[in-house]
Amino acid sequence: MITLDEFIIQRQRDFPFATGDLSGILRNISLAAKVVNREVNKAGLVEILGETEDENIHGEQVKKLDDYANRQFIDSLRISGLCCGIASEEEDDFLAFDEKPNLQANYVVTFDPLDGSSNIDVNVSIGTIFSIYRRVSPLGPCKEIDFLQCGTEQVASGYIIYGSSTMMVYTTRNGLNGFTLDPSIGEFCLSHPNIIMPKTGKYYSINQGYMANFKKGVREFVKYCQEKDEATKRPFGLRYIGSMVADIHRNLITGGIFIYPSLSNHPKGKLRLVYECNPMALIIEQAGGKATTGTMNILDLKPTELHERCPVFMGSTALVEKAEDFLVAYKGQ
Ligand code: AHG
Ligand code: MN
Ligand code: MN
Repeated sequence: MITLDEFIIQRQRDFPFATGDLSGILRNISLAAKVVNREVNKAGLVEILGETEDENIHGEQVKKLDDYANRQFIDSLRISGLCCGIASEEEDDFLAFDEKPNLQANYVVTFDPLDGSSNIDVNVSIGTIFSIYRRVSPLGPCKEIDFLQCGTEQVASGYIIYGSSTMMVYTTRNGLNGFTLDPSIGEFCLSHPNIIMPKTGKYYSINQGYMANFKKGVREFVKYCQEKDEATKRPFGLRYIGSMVADIHRNLITGGIFIYPSLSNHPKGKLRLVYECNPMALIIEQAGGKATTGTMNILDLKPTELHERCPVFMGSTALVEKAEDFLVAYKGQ
């Protein structure tokens, strides 16, 4: 059995000049995840379900667990002394850490502390998503440009899924590995080494309730998924949990496509480039899948603001390319 901490140390030895800072950040993220997991597991028993009085910058009601998770990840990264600042989906602006070791640190972290907020109160899988970048600003307080880097610049990304079991899945651009939390010893243990996703799959994941607001290309792709065809094993099953982490985790393991497209009332869709799309796009690519906006690789987008959104088509390569074919065929409609 290999624990996450052992695995991180082993991987660090592959890089002779590694300082251990990135390893330390990953360890502190996994520690915060364990604390959040503990609260998620007893959520119905303690006063942590429901909403706070606040609305976040996206106009969404902040849940108590969103707020709790946000504070855990911020505190854990701050005390690491290895991170010069963070940007969180739940914060209006980035936070530059001003403690002495953090001012000298080389990394920034972005995260969605609790993904799938609408599922918190109903005991359905939720998650956390994170990205790590090397700062581009000089030592001292970090700057916004540190957070507005292309996804191609990510040093590492990952997610935690608080599901029927809790897992941490992450990449340092050297393959994708998954660790399951063994609650009896309180350790994440390597359970899914070197994850490679199937080239195609039998699931499509999209909020089909918004069909009337999709562009024609997306509507036609949905119809394609529903048609009968033995050669391509259609119709595909529709699976949509409403927690991006859980939907993508399933599709990574079984094969499939996850879509949150542009809507007539929300042209850039809903999901956030910096906190959700970029980290997940790197994960999908590391597993051999594809992640695009329908026309462009997500990782090539240059964010212009922290909270910007983008449409996403990600998952098994054959399915993403098929969806892109429909977008091209019905371009402008
Ligand atoms: P968050 O809870 O961090 O705001 O993210 C929720 C996201 C994502 O997890 C999910 O795929 C999507 O919102 C669901 O949105 P719809 O209810 O519009 O389908
Ligand atoms: Mn989210
Ligand atoms: Mn969230």
